[in-house]
Amino acid sequence: MLKATNAVSAAPTRRRVLLTGAGLGLTATACSRDAGPPEDARGPGFHGLRQSGVATPRQATVLLLAYDLDPALRDAAGARALKAVLGTWTDALGQTLGSAGSRAVRLTATVGVGPALPARLGLRAPAALRELPSFTGDRLDPARCGGDLLVQLCADTADATEATAESLTRLAGETLWPRWRQAGFLPPSPDGTPRNLIGFKDGSAGPTPEECERWVWSGHATCLVVRRVHLRIEDFARLPVHRQEEIVGRRRSTGGPLDDGPEDADADLSARTPQGAHVTPERSHVGAVSPRLDAGARMLRRNYSYADGPSDQGLLFLAFMRDPALFARVQRRMAAQDDLSGFTETRGSAVAYILPGARAGRPLGAELLG
Ligand code: HEM
Repeated sequence: MLKATNAVSAAPTRRRVLLTGAGLGLTATACSRDAGPPEDARGPGFHGLRQSGVATPRQATVLLLAYDLDPALRDAAGARALKAVLGTWTDALGQTLGSAGSRAVRLTATVGVGPALPARLGLRAPAALRELPSFTGDRLDPARCGGDLLVQLCADTADATEATAESLTRLAGETLWPRWRQAGFLPPSPDGTPRNLIGFKDGSAGPTPEECERWVWSGHATCLVVRRVHLRIEDFARLPVHRQEEIVGRRRSTGGPLDDGPEDADADLSARTPQGAHVTPERSHVGAVSPRLDAGARMLRRNYSYADGPSDQGLLFLAFMRDPALFARVQRRMAAQDDLSGFTETRGSAVAYILPGARAGRPLGAELLG
C-alpha cells in the first residue's frame, strides 16, 4: 500500500459537516442552499432566488429534456412566445413542486437556456454562455446534443419526473419542439455516496458553500454542462483493483484519496511515495481534473448513471459552474493525460444558462426576457 510522505492537508474534513447535514438518507451535494427554495423536511419547493436541483442533494433519478424553439420564431416574436411558455411553466411548476406528493419524492425542476437562443431573440447573452468547443476523442451523436431550452427534472421516483415532463411538453404547445431526452439513475447507496458504473464512489469531492458562491453561482444564476459519457465497463472491471485505483486516483472501497485520507479529503497532488512516485498518479483521473490545477476553481458535479440496454451504459455527467470555460480546461486535460479516457467515449453534449429562480411576480426568465 502506498504511503504519503507529505502530511495530509488540513482541508480533509471541511466538507464533512455538509455531508452529514443532509440527513434523511439523502445524497449530499456540498453547496449552499441559503438562497434556494425552502428545502426543509417536507422536501424541496419551487419558488426562491435560485432554482432547485443545483444545490439540492441528488435524488434517485434524473430526466433531462431538451427543446428547440419553433424555427419560425425569432426576434421579438420569439421572445414573446418563449416568455409565454416560461410563464405557464412557472405557474405549473409552482403548483406541482409545492404539493405534498412532489415534496415527498423530492421533485425538482431546473430550467436553462441554450447558447444559440439569446442572439436569435435579440437578447443580451450572459457572458459565460457559449457553445462548448469540440474535444479530442468526442464521438458526438447530434441527436443527443444541444437544445434551446434545457430542463433537468430530478425525483426519487421516475414516475414523478415523467409526469412533469409530459405536462411541460404539453404546455409548451407548438412553441417548443422536443429535441432529445435522457434518463439517469443512482444505484441504492448503503455505504453513503453512490457508486457509478465502474464501481467508484462518485460525488465525494464537492465544493464547500463558500466555493460554490465563488465558482458555481453568478448572482442567482449558474451554467450547466451535460455530457453523456459511454463507459467500457467490462474492460475496466477486468483490471485489478489497484490498477483501477491508479486510473481513478481514489480508493475504490472508501472513495478517499490514495494517501488513505477520509472520503471527503482533497487529493494532495504533491504527495510522494517513499520511492518518489506521485501518490496520486499524474495520469489518473483525479491527477488530471483536480481543482488544484485550476487555481482552486471548482464545479459542482451532480452525476447520474445511465443504461440504455447492455451495450450503452455510462455516466450522465452533470456539472454546474459559473463559467463553462472551466469545464473546457478540465476536459482538455482529461483528453490529454487522463488514463480514464481510454475507457470513455463522450456521445452527447449540451450547455445551458440556468436562470435565476422564480418568485411571486418574477416568472422564470424574467431577468432575460423582461
Ligand atoms: C465517465 C466519465 C467519468 C467518470 C467515471 C468519473 C469518475 C470520477 C470519480 C470516481 C471521481 C472521484 C470521486 C469524486 O470526487 O466524485 C471523480 C472526480 C472528479 N471528476 Fe470525474 N468522472 C468522469 C468524467 C469527468 C469529466 C468529463 C469531468 C470534467 C471534465 C470530470 C471532473 C471531475 C472532477 C473535477 C472531480 C473532482 C476531483 C477532485 O476534486 O479531486 N469527471 N470523477
